[in-house]
Amino acid sequence: MKKIGIDLGTTNTVVTINDNDQIKIIPIDNDHLVPSVFYYNEKRKIKLVGKRAKNRGLMDPDNYIKSTKRSIDSPEKKFTASNKTFSSEDIAVEILSKVKEAIYQYLGHEEKIEAVITVPNNFTTNAVENTKNAGIRAGFSKVETLKEPIASVLAYGEKIRPDNHAIYFVCDFGGGTFDIAVIKYDGSEYEVIATGGNEKLGGDDFTNAMIDYLNDQIMEKEALDYSLESIEDNALLKMVYDSDVTYQRTKAKIAQKAETAKLALSYETSVNVAIGELCVKDNQSVIFECDISSVDFNQYPKVKRLWRDYQEAIEEVIEKLKREDIGTSDIDHVIFVGGSMNLPEAKRIVQELIPANILEDNLDTIVAIGASSKMTTTKQIIPRVNFNLGLKVEGDKISVIIPEQSKYPIEASKMYTTIYDNQKEISFEVYEGNAIDNVYDRKNHWLGKLILNGIEQTNAGEARVKVTFSLNQEGILKITAVDLSNNHQVNTELNWQELKY
Ligand SMILES: Nc1ncnc2c1ncn2[C@@H]1O[C@H](COP(=O)(O)OP(=O)(O)OP(=O)(O)O)[C@@H](O)[C@H]1O
Ligand SMILES: [Mg+2]
Repeated sequence: MKKIGIDLGTTNTVVTINDNDQIKIIPIDNDHLVPSVFYYNEKRKIKLVGKRAKNRGLMDPDNYIKSTKRSIDSPEKKFTASNKTFSSEDIAVEILSKVKEAIYQYLGHEEKIEAVITVPNNFTTNAVENTKNAGIRAGFSKVETLKEPIASVLAYGEKIRPDNHAIYFVCDFGGGTFDIAVIKYDGSEYEVIATGGNEKLGGDDFTNAMIDYLNDQIMEKEALDYSLESIEDNALLKMVYDSDVTYQRTKAKIAQKAETAKLALSYETSVNVAIGELCVKDNQSVIFECDISSVDFNQYPKVKRLWRDYQEAIEEVIEKLKREDIGTSDIDHVIFVGGSMNLPEAKRIVQELIPANILEDNLDTIVAIGASSKMTTTKQIIPRVNFNLGLKVEGDKISVIIPEQSKYPIEASKMYTTIYDNQKEISFEVYEGNAIDNVYDRKNHWLGKLILNGIEQTNAGEARVKVTFSLNQEGILKITAVDLSNNHQVNTELNWQELKY
């Protein structure tokens, strides 16, 4: 039995193994990280994950799937390649299967493998469960999950071994998400004391902003009239190109150059972007190139907005800490994690807000290193829930059973009753979310339904039904409903698997 750690990222996946007390990175396709992307061409019978999938995908975007991680809590959200649909979980299975093959190659043989897969701190319970499921479907014999920020603290915690109290402020700025977690270490236990971030903000957004920036420049150079902006999306751009095929090909080329330019701006104050031929018009090549400075890019309105969101996410967490009587000067270490933390502006904003020691080793791989550290640490990890967990009640509100920020494992119960005479059944709608006054707020997530049948028939409001939520160490929720009226007991127990829609 071998144990491995996996950082299953939106953009890149990293795998580690604890080899004779040394945590090593398992190479995949000769690299320390594998792009979390999938290419599927049914006609030509090609199925690829990683670098080779990315190369093909750039030229053949219709058969290419990427950045699916954010949707793993929604099986109904589908991605298409070769007219076949895949859920985010299906894509995770493909990536993890590739990872498993790389492990076998590294070991030189096949054997049972247990995996710790890291998940973003603000993943919903459903997302955590679907991630575990993907691991099992990919053939791992046991899968545990670990919150990404805790993984990065563990990676340092084990290395710098603080003897006593320390507060870590973790900023994980990856491809798809920005996760913040504040973790307190008291000499024996790690506890998440505040969390935040923005699950819709990541390096991909900066690449997309760079694509828009380049497209703006192209339109400007080709003297296209912005007053035509009401034309359907992309129509303006298509006017630049001679055909839809050129448009698709050039779009892929621009996307590639945009990513390269974004990366270069982490190290240079200005870069030259040479796209080359956009298309052929009147037998003439239309060539495009331009210079971009990091100042111009950071001042571009879309990018400015992204930095504003980034800063707000940090300030929100600082506010939360204040409410617990923790000031920024109480923070001992800021841990930078994730590829997008290479962006100088990302570092500058944090450093301006928090005057603490900066730890910034292995931005790309620290989470996977922490996943393997989890298996050897003797320290306790005390997580907290990010969302209220409860039931929909009258007035479309959420009746909270487990409040946000509760430490878990936890078990909590509340009493409910019938609303009309002789009511035989109650249907409980289970939700997680923080907008408790409006269950249908888009920030809330519907988790499932629990129907309790055979309730003792009485007058409205007389039945006594006890609903218990129990959340285990890994964030898996079990729900029990019991009718306590007139000593007649009916109970229904649903575990998470059955709750899935
Ligand atoms: N030198 C760099 N400068 C700017 N951005 C970079 C640099 N290196 C990597 N990135 C960006 O980092 C992102 C990938 O980061 P990382 O591998 O940490 O993400 P991930 O873990 O896959 O995503 P997530 O944590 O959101 O699930 C990409 O958007 C990439 O463009
Ligand atoms: Mg990450």
